[in-house]
Amino acid sequence: MNKVAKMVSIGMLLAGAACQDLEHSRQVDNPLVSGRTIALQVCSNCHGVNGVSISPAFPKLAGQQKEYLVAQLTDFKSHTRADPNAQRFMWGFTHLTDMQIDELATYFSGQSAVLGVASDPALIDEGRAIYRSGLPEKGVGACVGCHGQHGEGENQFPRLAGQHAHYVIKQLEVFQQTDTRPRGAPMKAVCANMSDRDMRAVAAFVEAFSPEEEVSASPAADR
Ligand code: HEC
Ligand code: HEC
Repeated sequence: MNKVAKMVSIGMLLAGAACQDLEHSRQVDNPLVSGRTIALQVCSNCHGVNGVSISPAFPKLAGQQKEYLVAQLTDFKSHTRADPNAQRFMWGFTHLTDMQIDELATYFSGQSAVLGVASDPALIDEGRAIYRSGLPEKGVGACVGCHGQHGEGENQFPRLAGQHAHYVIKQLEVFQQTDTRPRGAPMKAVCANMSDRDMRAVAAFVEAFSPEEEVSASPAADR
């Protein structure tokens, strides 16, 4: 009796130790590891601890819409989001459970988005016009209608404000030229007739998401 009780308590101790280990090890294929731990130990290597990636090939996740994040992680897991970079970098995460996907999406959507630095003002002005009014003569819809007044997105419509221009251009090309994003139909229609220049312009605008006043102000006004 005494012996059994002793064995039980040793068993519980061991279980406790294993639990603690999960939070410190890289057992990311273990369904018991929390999304937060996976985010800190794995995802952060490319997307940054704050969800603000350095390399422009890796999208920023900070402040991204939760519903959108869940959808994309589900599509990577099922290998239906299938452009080359998705395959190369995101297809390995097939072991994530629905619970972990939900926790990861909560983690990154709760972080503060960080805007990029404004580049070429003329290009940005051109991009702002496309963002707000589209290009009616080419059938390009106004981005603001779905991605929001401040580029913040909503539910399945992703945040664009702050996103790396390089990544934005890449995705516009993916939507326009391929069928490798399974939820891409609305975007395919939007960007069917966009030129390279249109894409570069709107990408430069959303990366910095600079309000008009800032861009049109002359440098002298800053002094
Ligand atoms: C080795 C680098 C790397 C790691 C590690 C990584 N990612 Fe990614 N992630 C990428 C790249 C590159 C893309 C862009 C893929 C593309 O161009 O389609 C991406 C795309 C995404 C997207 C889509 C974002 C969008 O705006 O559509 C999400 C969500 C995402 N990753 C979440 C995660 C999570 C969660 C983890 C950890 C489980 C993770 N990533 C780990 C490189 C990485
Ligand atoms: C009719 C609604 C609608 C309009 C208008 C629209 N979008 Fe989108 N956009 C979407 C949806 C929905 C998605 C998510 C698609 C997916 O899940 O694959 C998306 C995704 C994107 C993405 C991918 C973001 C990422 O993180 O991978 C980019 C870039 C984008 N849109 C840019 C634009 C630009 C630029 C415009 C204006 C020229 C625009 N969109 C207009 C609905 C729209």
